[in-house]
Amino acid sequence: MWDYSDKVKDHFFHPRNVGTIDRPDGVGEVGSLACGDALRLMFKLGDDGRIADVKFQTFGCGSAIAASSALTEMVKGMTIDEAAKITNRDIAEYLGGLPEQKMHCSVMGREALEAAIANYRGEKGMPEEEGEIVCHCFGVTDRQIERAIKENGLTSVAQVTYYTKAGGGCEKCHPELQAILDRVIADTGGGIRRIAVAEKSKRLTNIDKIKLVEETIEREIRPMLRQDGGDIELVDVDGNTVYVALRGSCGKCALAGVTLKDFVQAKLREFVVPQIEVEEWSEQGN
Ligand code: FES
Repeated sequence: MWDYSDKVKDHFFHPRNVGTIDRPDGVGEVGSLACGDALRLMFKLGDDGRIADVKFQTFGCGSAIAASSALTEMVKGMTIDEAAKITNRDIAEYLGGLPEQKMHCSVMGREALEAAIANYRGEKGMPEEEGEIVCHCFGVTDRQIERAIKENGLTSVAQVTYYTKAGGGCEKCHPELQAILDRVIADTGGGIRRIAVAEKSKRLTNIDKIKLVEETIEREIRPMLRQDGGDIELVDVDGNTVYVALRGSCGKCALAGVTLKDFVQAKLREFVVPQIEVEEWSEQGN
């Protein structure tokens, strides 16, 4: 089960501003029923040039309904320029957070708003539409993927799927998603990783954290230890304290303490959250 905030549940069970507007000033549609999520958003400006009315219709999960409802509440009373600055993270934050696996709902909301603003301004479509389709299952372009990576500090293919849906079907596009990730991370000189760590520390649930610790050990730590005939076992995660046991040659090494702090802890701080403390699990002592 996803861990939803009270505000997400409230907007899901009592969505605001559902419906249509007669002769709207701007209309934006994103997604498609074939892909499982679709959102139509429209607004009307008041005499003062601010958004006086805004309505949405969506086909999607509870998070899509909550994100769309929240977005309509956020933009009411804004000028077009103010509304254009809303990011998908703003929508998620307004809702008190969304499970990471559902962040694509906030991205869909932001894209629908951008499409509606583009429609109002007489522009043809969103800049993303100029990109090339990378994920054919969900019709996601390289531009959309690059933008989601940069704006949200994504560092893995799984995260790209959570935020854009790309890669969530046949998985044939995974190598290309990884190549885009590698390129964007290299271009930003590690900036993406720093955003990722800061963002994660704000929104990680305990289950997310344990999963990330396991993934980081598997991908970044175990292969290095095995090269020297050692290994590592994850024993427990208690808040930000991670208990591990070093095995093989690492367990007997006089420098085990250095390995734990300078390598294992450093990697977990880089890829999970900066507050991680690593402690050695001792079968006798614990
Ligand atoms: S092409 Fe991306 S999941 Fe199928």
